[in-house]
Amino acid sequence: MGMWMVAGNWKMNNLTGEAVALAKDVVSGLPPIAGRGEVVLAPPFTVLKSVFDVIAGTPVALASQNVFFEDKGAFTGEISSAMLRDAGCTYAIIGHSERRKYFHETDENVNLKVKKCLATGLKPIVCVGETDEEREAGITEFVVGIQVKKALAGIPALDKIVIAYEPVWAIGTGKNAAPIEAEEVHHFIRNVLGETHGDASRNVKILYGGSVTADNFGELIAMENINGALVGGASLKSENFLGIISRAMEKNK
Ligand code: PGA
Repeated sequence: MGMWMVAGNWKMNNLTGEAVALAKDVVSGLPPIAGRGEVVLAPPFTVLKSVFDVIAGTPVALASQNVFFEDKGAFTGEISSAMLRDAGCTYAIIGHSERRKYFHETDENVNLKVKKCLATGLKPIVCVGETDEEREAGITEFVVGIQVKKALAGIPALDKIVIAYEPVWAIGTGKNAAPIEAEEVHHFIRNVLGETHGDASRNVKILYGGSVTADNFGELIAMENINGALVGGASLKSENFLGIISRAMEKNK
C-alpha cells in the first residue's frame, strides 16, 4: 500500500496568532515526507488564508472543515467549494460527525458536497462512523456501509476520495478503537468500495480518527487497511501532531 495521510482537524480553535504559530511549528518540525505521505491542516475558515501563507511551497496541504454544495448566491453564512480553492484548500472534510450531530447533515447533503467538490477540484475527506448505541446494537457495519454508499452514490471514480472512519464514541473521549477493532471496519469499508467501484478501492486512503495520539497511533498505522489519521485534539499541539507523523513515517520506511 502506498502513501499515508495525517490530517489535523483543528475544529473551532485558534485565532490568527495561534494558527500561524502552530502551522509554522508543524512546517519547521516536519520530517522529509515527499513520496511517503501527506500532511494536511484543516483550520477554521477565518484563518485558512493565514495558514496557507505559512504552508505555501511546503509539502503541507490545506483543508477546510466543511463546504456548501451550491456554487454561489443567497446562502447566508455558507462557503462554496470555489471559495475554498481560492483560499488555498486542496481538501475539504465532509460529513464530520459533529456536523451530522449538531448541524443535522445527512448522507444526502454529504453526497451533494462530495459531488460539488469533485466538480470544482477540491478533494473530499469523507467522514463516516457509528455511535456508541449502534456499536452496542451490533450494527456498525450496517451503518458505516450505508454512509459510505450514500456519500459516494453517483461518483464514478475514487482517485480523489479519502475516507475517514471515525467511531463517534472515540472522538474527543480518549477512548480510541483497539487497532484490530478499527482494522475490521477499515477492511469492511474497503470491501464496500470494492463492491461499488471495483479494483480502484485498493488505492483509497482510509484514515482512522478518534482520540489518536502519538502513543496509540503506532499500532493503528501498522494495520493493513489503516492509511493514516484524522486527528482532532492532538493536532492542536505541534509536538503531539509531529509525533503522530513520525509514527506514520514508520509505515513505509
Ligand atoms: P479527536 O477528534 O482526535 O479529538 O478525537 C478527531 C476528529 O473529530 O476528527
